[in-house]
Amino acid sequence: MQLLVAVVSVACLLVSPALAAIKDLSSHFSHSNPEPRGFQAKASGDVEDIPLDFHKENTITNDLVFDGFEDADYIDFDKILSAGSDDYIEGDEIDEIATPAPDIDIFAEPSDPKIRRARLLRLFHGRSRLQRLNIANALFGFNLYRSLRNDVNQSDNILLAPAGISIAMGMMSLGGGPGTQEQIYKVLGFAEFVNASSHYDNSTVHKLFRKLTHRLFRRNYGYTLRSVNDVYVNKNVSVKDAFRAETKAYYFAEPQSVDFGDPAFLNKANRRILKITKGLIREPLKSVDPNMVLMLLNYLYFKGTWEQKFPKEMTHYRNFRVNDKTNVRVPMMTNKGNYLAAADHELDCDILQLPYSGHISMLIALPRKITGMRNLEQEISPTVVNKWLKNMTNRTREVVLPRFKLEQNYDLIVNLKEMGLTDLFQDDADFSGMTSDKVVLNWLKHQGTITVNEEGTEAAALTQVGFMPLSSQIRFVVDHPFLFLIYEHRTDCVVFMGRVVNPSQN
Ligand SMILES: *[C@@H]1O[C@H](CO)[C@@H](O)[C@H](O)[C@H]1NC(C)=O
Ligand SMILES: *[C@@H]1O[C@H](CO)[C@@H](O)[C@H](O)[C@H]1NC(C)=O
Ligand SMILES: *[C@@H]1O[C@H](CO)[C@@H](O)[C@H](O)[C@H]1NC(C)=O
Ligand SMILES: *[C@@H]1O[C@H](CO)[C@@H](O)[C@H](O)[C@H]1NC(C)=O
Ligand SMILES: *[C@@H]1O[C@H](CO)[C@@H](O)[C@H](O)[C@H]1NC(C)=O
Ligand SMILES: *[C@@H]1O[C@H](CO)[C@@H](O)[C@H](O)[C@H]1NC(C)=O
Repeated sequence: MQLLVAVVSVACLLVSPALAAIKDLSSHFSHSNPEPRGFQAKASGDVEDIPLDFHKENTITNDLVFDGFEDADYIDFDKILSAGSDDYIEGDEIDEIATPAPDIDIFAEPSDPKIRRARLLRLFHGRSRLQRLNIANALFGFNLYRSLRNDVNQSDNILLAPAGISIAMGMMSLGGGPGTQEQIYKVLGFAEFVNASSHYDNSTVHKLFRKLTHRLFRRNYGYTLRSVNDVYVNKNVSVKDAFRAETKAYYFAEPQSVDFGDPAFLNKANRRILKITKGLIREPLKSVDPNMVLMLLNYLYFKGTWEQKFPKEMTHYRNFRVNDKTNVRVPMMTNKGNYLAAADHELDCDILQLPYSGHISMLIALPRKITGMRNLEQEISPTVVNKWLKNMTNRTREVVLPRFKLEQNYDLIVNLKEMGLTDLFQDDADFSGMTSDKVVLNWLKHQGTITVNEEGTEAAALTQVGFMPLSSQIRFVVDHPFLFLIYEHRTDCVVFMGRVVNPSQN
């Protein structure tokens, strides 16, 4: 039983051009690897020392070898640790800084900023900085989800990769002038995060994103999670060295000079996406405006293996209630085993944790009433998720879950504007950190695919079926609309979130 997730977010800029020389795409695609330069990033002042070859060898953004692209291309976390670099330990430990956990009712409505802040600090308490940043990211992600939810039909499934969007926006902030940067920090919640401790400054965010990338996208932990941030720039636009250096240092992305009018560009970019997402995302770029000046691509791909696999022969067609009037017949998988679950009586829902190998889980929140989805969507927050995780009990359960596959495609500009991120998309956008040319972000595409199917071994699970007496079993039957989160427990990262209203629809 495996789950496959892939997401592409695409952002593009249009500009009035000027001449410049940056690395030509042909060298990028032909994988002749020029000097890696990201870690000479003096502009940022404090990019930690990592051997120059490290990223060349261990990230996929820097080469386009389409053959033999395998796990070896991924970061070897153990190697980094044993190499004695403390960069990847620092900040993963609990901060000694005693972030005060105010003694107030943090479950009260966050009607004023003081309550909101107190609540945030309470959540931060005892957590590493990386976890804290991910709490801020989750706050943003849930709000973005709500904004998107309001724009789609009630019967539509939803899939978002909040972490990918936060990472992409962190990268965009490097290119923003002061005002634009401030807006990104505010809307994405980075400002609140930075403000939480006197030990943090603005660059802490970028450093932590670098670390998050290493933590999430490492290999040998039983799952595969891949991400790429690619920056393509029109050949004739001048990109500042500092921006180039910083995107590479922190986000493993290096601007590549391209001719957007050349059909070969689309072909190559699509082949790359196809390859990285293992064929899950096909030709996401149908056409590109030849006047495009800067394009940012962020992809996430996840393939997990359940800790307890679902035996294939237990899968049967059953009814799934889409709403009060509609049922669909879908393949429902069944398993019995020890699963963590919680009951949330306030939000009137039940929560099931389905673990994958490697500290990552799918959390399923199932409203008890079919009409309860809206309230759940309204209320979901890092505080709520934290409460769920703390409230889990371990029992032998029978779990019934539909197979499903989602493919979603969003233009998020409207939603981000609604959330206050307006500067990037207006004519007076300030991208002075990136270029002295006039640019404006006019295309931001977020595309995702998630497949829950039954690839993988079935045999191991067989022994788990049917050996517990019925009286000790608790059934968790996911037969009506539910929310799900793909959650990384060590970093508290909401990697993906979405809802399944109708598993028979893409
Ligand atoms: C909602 O569904 C209706 C009917 O299927 C369709 O006409 C409409 O465009 C949809 N709205 C959105 C926002 O997708
Ligand atoms: C951090 O960024 C914000 C917004 O861009 C800015 O107002 C603030 O002065 C910056 N702080 C530091 C310490 O650089
Ligand atoms: C930053 O923290 C101080 C208290 O330390 C608070 O008064 C202020 O409102 C906070 N600012 C933001 C933007 O959160
Ligand atoms: C730069 O590229 C754009 C879009 O391809 C084109 O319209 C423009 O003429 C180019 N400018 C120069 C100076 O080459
Ligand atoms: C579970 O959550 C409820 C709030 O809904 C709380 O009152 C209760 O103490 C929690 N139980 C545990 C074991 O954490
Ligand atoms: C649940 O309990 C079983 C049996 O005691 C144990 O093997 C398993 O590790 C527990 N699972 C968790 C997540 O605690």
